[in-house]
Amino acid sequence: WIGFHTKLSEGTVPYDDDQEGINEQVVIKFSHVVAENTPKGLAAQRFANRVDERSDGRIKVEVIPNGGLYSDQEEFEALQRGDIQMIAPATTKLSSFSSKWQVLDLPYAMPTRESIIEALNGEIGEILLQKLEKSNMKGLTLWINGFKQVTTNNGPIIQPADLNGQALRIMPSSVLKKQFELVGAKAIGLDFNDTYRLLESGELNGEENTISNIYSKKFFEVQSDLTISDHGFLGYAVIMNKDFWDHLTADQQKIISEALDETTRWNQTHSFAMNDEQLSIIQRNSSISIHRLTDKEKKEWAKAWEPVYLDFKEEIGEELLNKILELQE
Ligand code: LMR
Repeated sequence: WIGFHTKLSEGTVPYDDDQEGINEQVVIKFSHVVAENTPKGLAAQRFANRVDERSDGRIKVEVIPNGGLYSDQEEFEALQRGDIQMIAPATTKLSSFSSKWQVLDLPYAMPTRESIIEALNGEIGEILLQKLEKSNMKGLTLWINGFKQVTTNNGPIIQPADLNGQALRIMPSSVLKKQFELVGAKAIGLDFNDTYRLLESGELNGEENTISNIYSKKFFEVQSDLTISDHGFLGYAVIMNKDFWDHLTADQQKIISEALDETTRWNQTHSFAMNDEQLSIIQRNSSISIHRLTDKEKKEWAKAWEPVYLDFKEEIGEELLNKILELQE
């Protein structure tokens, strides 16, 4: 396989190790599509730093942010080819590998911050990560970004009916498409890094995303209205090429797992706060109108989208669906 040991042609010099003779540095290329100042961007860099410390520089994680090498779909192909070794795509983008992942996309699936953490750290997370093995992907952990909100150029969006006729960018996903169809919106699955351009040109009216993505990619500058609806979850599966993982030594795997455990804990305590802070910055520094849905209004959105649960019951399966419903009690 490609990519495990740094090739000399890439310029890394093997170094002497007293106990084991000549060793080469292991290089892990970690590609992602978001900005650096986001829950995922910061977690990826933090993980890289921890691995460097714990391995005394013998394992180097090179983080490539902003889709600098590969866009959403391309990064999966690059991972499977072994051109890169790690990615952390939105869980939504994993439904083409196993439809079970769609459970996390259901509207208001995990209505509180605590329920998100419980789902990801518990059986739901475990079952889902396991599903990646058959596609030669090793699911290592799950990271949080936060709740998705809605932005448009012609709001305000307060009632589900206000979404009627809106052309919206979504991540490619049958659940998300169905959800917006139910309220008369035209939802189109598009690459994350094409979104700004399409919003700016007015080809799309709006999109749904977390505050951190709305802020760091400047969507708020080209939209008139932002609705704090908290209607869906955005988080990430941290994935390695499985062949690559299996060829690491037990010691290398331990270093990586421990660095990831630490990073995941950090991510879970900081991601919501980062979204909160960036919302305050948007509020202070831009003219976008911000609408916070009341609990009663959120219930109306949830009700409008209830049929999605039934539509995807079979694809998701009762086991996972029941586990998610339990979290909502
Ligand atoms: C999106 O496509 O909107 C998100 O998946 C981007 C990300 O990785 O947060």
